[in-house]
Amino acid sequence: MKHTPITLADVQRVYDGPEADLWLLIMGEQIHVGGMNSSLALARSAGLASGMTGVDLCCCLGAGMRFLAKTFGVRMCGVDATDRMLDRARLRARDEGLEDKLEFRKGDVTQIPARDGEFDFVWGEDAWCYVVDKDRLIAEAARVLKPGGVIAFTDWIEGPAGLSEAEALRINTFMKFPYMESLDGYAALLARHGFVARETAEIEFAKFVDLYLAMLGEQLTFDALRILGGDEALFRAMGAEMEFMRAAAHAGKVTRGRFVAVKR
Ligand SMILES: C[S@@+](CC[C@H](N)C(=O)[O-])C[C@H]1O[C@@H](n2cnc3c(N)ncnc32)[C@H](O)[C@@H]1O
Repeated sequence: MKHTPITLADVQRVYDGPEADLWLLIMGEQIHVGGMNSSLALARSAGLASGMTGVDLCCCLGAGMRFLAKTFGVRMCGVDATDRMLDRARLRARDEGLEDKLEFRKGDVTQIPARDGEFDFVWGEDAWCYVVDKDRLIAEAARVLKPGGVIAFTDWIEGPAGLSEAEALRINTFMKFPYMESLDGYAALLARHGFVARETAEIEFAKFVDLYLAMLGEQLTFDALRILGGDEALFRAMGAEMEFMRAAAHAGKVTRGRFVAVKR
């Protein structure tokens, strides 16, 4: 497996600073590829229904939770390790009148601050790529789910064409990922922790990298430079890393996966 030495502390620094603001600029409040459409497809595949209680592992601003509470009538708990994101998530839930349906707990998703069997579903969107110990994460997800509960997540994964060690190191270092799982890797982790797969699918990725690069280069350049303190060299360097990722995405070396499985 192609690992970098990135730790949770490195990831917390990202979500405490300008890098997170850049992702917010190009992705919006839902910091995942495909925004609301992606959440909708995942929720439908998971069979979410009114009255269910779920946990969003790496909830960030809780935008996905707000969408699910409003659209599907679920109650949710969000777990995240970065105070800055949690503080904003609580404020935004309150501003949207959802404080009685949503709660937030600070914690590491490899040690979920929740009781055994507390939830009907576990939710995650494009965030578990930041987690060092994904085996422990899936074990914890199984622990906090009721029997028959559903795990549903999307994530950035290594694609079928595969990354060389050097390519993986470059992309994971830029993205601050310890490593990316693969479709088969996640399928194996889910099976090991007692899940029966319902959906394991590769989903669109490359066209979104095209979109982000076009936005940064053609529309949001001023805003991105402001976030980077006017550092044009840094802006160009980050652009070069995004271009490298775009090429890898179009070559099928980096992609996304959607996973839905049921706890036995
Ligand atoms: C890309 S954002 C998540 C986006 C969110 N799922 C959404 O769809 O809007 C990544 C988040 O993961 C959190 N995170 C990363 N590793 C974590 C860990 N081990 N435990 C808890 N939170 C973690 C970060 O603090 C950050 O808020």
